[in-house]
Amino acid sequence: MNIFEALRESHDRQRGYADALIQTHGDSKERVEAYKQLKAELQAHETAEERFFYIPLMQFDNGIDLSRHAISEHHEMDEMMEELDETDMSSPSWLATAKKLSEKVHHHLKEEEQKFFQSAGKLLDDKQKESLASEYQKEYEEQLAEA
Ligand SMILES: [Fe+2]
Ligand SMILES: [Fe+2]
Repeated sequence: MNIFEALRESHDRQRGYADALIQTHGDSKERVEAYKQLKAELQAHETAEERFFYIPLMQFDNGIDLSRHAISEHHEMDEMMEELDETDMSSPSWLATAKKLSEKVHHHLKEEEQKFFQSAGKLLDDKQKESLASEYQKEYEEQLAEA
């Protein structure tokens, strides 16, 4: 497996969890569970992806801007989750923020897969693509276990 395949596995889960979240209603068990699932997935993925994809890419001149951009979007998603944590789940503004988060997740993943992966593919060699995949996977699993 290479790093792109490893990252995409979580991306597909994120899309599913984000879509499921905005179908939930009020302060329900479904919403609590759907949110917990998305938050854990996003946070585990973000940390592992930053450590074993974006930080290594920053070694290259052509990897700096894309890494900064992606990491700043991770931060934006974190802030949306902080807002959700501080908002009453039964209030309409909770769902409004969840929808914004879902849109941001979809936008971010699309940009990574369609733009950043192409650039990274030219910067990393085959050996790096493989070793980063296993390092990413290990970190991702550890992060998820701690969530
Ligand atoms: Fe990602
Ligand atoms: Fe990302």
